This record gives sequence, C-alpha cells and structure tokens, in this order.
Amino acid sequence: MISPNDFIVPLFVVEGKNVKEEIGSMPGYFRLSLDLLEKEVKELWNLGLKSVLLFVKVSEELKDNAGKEALNPEGLMQRSIKTVKNAVPEMIVMTDVALDPYSKFGHDGIIADGKVLNDDTTAVLAEMSLSHAKAGADIVAPSDMMDGRIFEMRSLLEDEGFHDTAIMSYSAKYASAFYGPFRDALDSAPVDAANIPKDKKTYQMDPSNREEAIRETLMDIEEGADIVMVKPGLCYLDIVRDIRNAVNIPVAVYQVSGEYAMIKAAAEKGWLDHDAVMLEQLTAIKRAGANMIASYFAKEAVKLIS
Ligand code: PBG
Repeated sequence: MISPNDFIVPLFVVEGKNVKEEIGSMPGYFRLSLDLLEKEVKELWNLGLKSVLLFVKVSEELKDNAGKEALNPEGLMQRSIKTVKNAVPEMIVMTDVALDPYSKFGHDGIIADGKVLNDDTTAVLAEMSLSHAKAGADIVAPSDMMDGRIFEMRSLLEDEGFHDTAIMSYSAKYASAFYGPFRDALDSAPVDAANIPKDKKTYQMDPSNREEAIRETLMDIEEGADIVMVKPGLCYLDIVRDIRNAVNIPVAVYQVSGEYAMIKAAAEKGWLDHDAVMLEQLTAIKRAGANMIASYFAKEAVKLIS
C-alpha cells in the first residue's frame, strides 16, 4: 500500500510574484513563483509530504553554453531552496542538477563540435551541487547522465565540508519519449540546429538495454551515490526490480511527465478512471521495488489514500 512517505514532489519554479502558470501538456500542474512556492510547500507538509524536488525555469537571456547562471548564488534555484527551507525547515529539499534548464541548446551538457563535452560538464555539475548545498539543499539530484559526475560531485562536497549533503543519482535514466511535457514545462527541449545533437541518446540509455542499467547504477554507488534512481517508471519496472535486487541502498523511481499526461488525457476523454489508474500505477511502481517515487500525482494520491 502506498503512503505519503513514499513520495517526492517535483516542483517547477519561475520568477515573478503571484505567478501560477498551468503547463499545457500537464493539466493540473503548475509553474509557481517563490511566494506561491512557499504556500505550496506548507500545504504539502500538512498533507504528510516531506520531500520536494526543485526544478527552475530559466529565462532565455540567462541561458548560455556554460551553465554560468546555474552557479549564481542568487539564482532562482538558490532562492527556491532558501524559500522552502524558510517556510518548512524540516522539508527535505532535493535539487535538480543538470545544465538543460540553463543551456541555450537544451542539452544537459556543454556542447562543442556537435558533441557533449563530458568532463567539462561534470566540473560544472560539481560546482552546481556545491552551490545548492550552500543554499541549504539536503539532497542534490543529478539528472544529466554524464559519466563520472557522482565522483566529481562527492569529492567537491567533501572538500568543502558538506559531508551530510546526500546525492540522489539518476543512475538508470533512459532516452525516453515520455519527457516531452517536462521539456514544455521548463522550455528545455534540445534545439534543432546544425551541429547540435538532436536528441539525448549519446548520454541517456537505450530503452532496449537492460544490463547497462545495472552497470551504471553500480558505478554510481561506487562513486558515492546515496540513492539511485530509475526513470521513467511504468515502462521500466523490470529494471526497477533488477536494481532493487542488486543494490542495498534506496531506489527511487521517477514517474515522469509523459506518464502523468497520458493518464490525464485519457481521463479527460472519459476513457479511464483517473483515480483508479493513478493508484494502480503508483502501487505497481512500489511493488516493483521503489523505496521512493517522484510523481506529479503525489498530492492527489495522498488526498485519496489518507
Ligand atoms: C533533464 C531532465 C528531464 C527530466 C528531468 N530532468 C528531461 C530530459 O532528460 O530531457 C524529465 C522529467 C519528466 O519528464 O517528468 N535533466
């Protein structure tokens, strides 16, 4: 049986005041400005939801090919972390660590000559983690899939005295077509231009590959991951079980934006029973072995089960 403790609530943050923008391809899900983020996390806490995963929508003029804004101590992410911690000090704050919201090319890494530069990118990701930790993040969550980033992040956090900042690694993240609505939410889809990789298949995993998921996950644990993740959920529950059986640290599953959108769309048409399907999918994810579930349904599900 799922319970409020199972959930991580993803939240999208934007600049402004009193801004609550519905995401077109995610009916019922919103981008919030900091003042409304504060209200939201108080409400979540009162519902028994104790961890949030923060994503920010960065304005176009702040995007570049280096992730400069990602390191701004007064950036939107850094202010979001402080806002949540001030509003509900006990809320577990997890932060997205990846360059795509900050990339003018919509990629998770720095691009040169049509390729993603792995090692230049991991250096920035480590700095980004440190910046989030300094702002008060409890758990940094790299969603980029560059090689070796967990080691770089852990090393820098240790060097700087952030021994207690945990790392939740998106360790088995597939190159999935289910991320579309999320890219709408953050306006972060890869751009269509010459010499820019048109998709993320060089760093995210091939959906037909099973062994690589375990290899990548074990490597991340060796490098210092405290929590590992499988993403997306429903299509990858075999992988969730494989990994649950192979590791002895918590396994998180991300039920992604496209999975949310499918249920919403079918329910809107009256073709599926929204609440029943939602709870069945969340239950299946837990049964497969998830110790935590990042889900856009968290709030709705908790209202139903408590
Ligand atoms: C990118 C990132 C993505 C998601 C989380 N972080 C999309 C992508 O890889 O393009 C997807 C989450 C979702 O679809 O809900 N670093």
